[in-house]
Amino acid sequence: MPAPTTIRTPRLELARWREHEFTELRAVLDLCDAHLRPWIPFMRDEPRSLDDTRARVAQFIASFDEGQHFRYVVRDRGTGAFVGEVMLLTRGAPGTLEIGYWLHQDQCGRGYAKEATAALLPVAFEDLGAARVAVVCDEHNAPSIAVAHSLGVTFDELRELVEDGAPVRLMTFVLPREVWLERRA
Ligand SMILES: CC(C)(COP(=O)(O)OP(=O)(O)OC[C@H]1O[C@@H](n2cnc3c(N)ncnc32)[C@H](O)[C@@H]1OP(=O)(O)O)[C@@H](O)C(=O)NCCC(=O)NCCS
Repeated sequence: MPAPTTIRTPRLELARWREHEFTELRAVLDLCDAHLRPWIPFMRDEPRSLDDTRARVAQFIASFDEGQHFRYVVRDRGTGAFVGEVMLLTRGAPGTLEIGYWLHQDQCGRGYAKEATAALLPVAFEDLGAARVAVVCDEHNAPSIAVAHSLGVTFDELRELVEDGAPVRLMTFVLPREVWLERRA
């Protein structure tokens, strides 16, 4: 089954990117630069120009259509306010979908990341047939690790990298399909 284009949770709506949303993405990334930059790899290529941001959103749309990466804009269901982005990325070992997430800095501390990412598990396992879901967090990113734990993942491995000359330790957590199915039963 293909990934759904829209997902609703009690408080949120997750929807695949639409072309016109690039201006909003640009504004949010500029506002939240300091909040996101330490933790999000794509921030190394920011700030992009508005044209490059438009091209990036077009890339998100094409990738969703191709069944490769599934990126969703998260909005408050009541107000439509931009809350953040969650995603299922085809990367890592075959059969693995990696869950990624970030929130607008003004939307943290409300449980939105946990609520939005939890809604991706049925998409990964039922719609897309993943064998496992993975989450990768910097070992110092406590809020992100808390979101990962809320999904029921367990620690898998620690990788040490050097990024921009600085050492980085990345924790990978995984949730195998069988474990998820057992818990649901
Ligand atoms: C990682 C990130 C998404 C986590 O955001 P967050 O707001 O801490 O996570 P949640 O939305 O799940 O909210 C959890 C917090 O909301 C609180 N909360 C309030 N109401 C809640 C509710 N109804 N349900 C659940 N939690 C609630 C919780 O107590 C918790 O706060 P605490 O950690 O102080 O106890 C955010 O810090 C972020 O965007 N960071 C920068 C980008 C990033 O690091 N992304 C991940 C890369 S791996």
